[in-house]
Amino acid sequence: MNERTSPGTSVTAAQQEREAEVTRQVLASFDGCADPRLREIMRSLVHHLHAFVREVRLTEVEWNQGIDFLTRTGRISDERRQEFILLSDVLGASMQTVAVNNEAYGDATEATVFGPFFVENSPEIGQGGDLSFGAAGEPCWVEGSVTDAAGHPVAGARIEVWEADGDGFYDTQYGDDRMAARAHLYSDTEGRYRFWGLTPTPYPIPHDGPVGGLLTAVGRSPMRASHLHFMVSAPTHRTLVTHIFVRGDELLDRDSVFGVKESLVMDFVHQSAGTPTPDARDLGDRSWSRVRFDIVLAPDGP
Ligand code: BEZ
Ligand code: FE
Repeated sequence: MNERTSPGTSVTAAQQEREAEVTRQVLASFDGCADPRLREIMRSLVHHLHAFVREVRLTEVEWNQGIDFLTRTGRISDERRQEFILLSDVLGASMQTVAVNNEAYGDATEATVFGPFFVENSPEIGQGGDLSFGAAGEPCWVEGSVTDAAGHPVAGARIEVWEADGDGFYDTQYGDDRMAARAHLYSDTEGRYRFWGLTPTPYPIPHDGPVGGLLTAVGRSPMRASHLHFMVSAPTHRTLVTHIFVRGDELLDRDSVFGVKESLVMDFVHQSAGTPTPDARDLGDRSWSRVRFDIVLAPDGP
């Protein structure tokens, strides 16, 4: 006789036992793994993966669709495009990993997702320099300080900054080798920094591949809330990877990669054309904006 375990399920106790036995066998297959961390990770992965297959009663057609999706995700990936990272981003796995690895430390600035558009060897600019290098967009004066969690200035911190241009594109999407809308600079002896960037604009994550197809299928938008990326490093401090977001942006509560944190939302104050600039730069008939972002670094270590 088929003994149903609970109303509405078609899985008998005997069937449940058969399924549990598959999981047990696979878990046991890792018993000989010499690396305890790898063993832990593989056992947990299998535990959750099997639970998922059983919970949704995954059909063989659906399993094949999943394999096909992952195959396409691999095929479209290369040195310039990493569709698996994008998949991790839209599933919130990237942000969950950031959360696990960046526990709150006092008032230290919160971290957020790295994204795929960072490039090594960005140009260096001096204090007050301009990172746009010809990229389109409204100029934005960015200034602030870098301090440690006790409030002491951190001099010589390396501040990497990168952003999409005013049309919503990173330089890596231009199709040539230009570097624009990215640079690095160092905090001064009092831990201060200032530079000209571009007022951030919203843009879609790359959505012409399998991940974009997934977003369409589930009725989600690829748009990211407007932001400016920072990576700040200094000896004896935890490297901070973060962005700042624009207060008032309507995408703040539906960022496609779940990167927004309230503490990272800043006031980008609009300045009409002709308003004197902090460094007396003449912007002619262009409007501009300004923002202050004070960065607090956590100490290095666990
Ligand atoms: C970005 O902000 O650059 C980004 C982050 C995650 C996915 C795609 C883009
Ligand atoms: Fe970005």
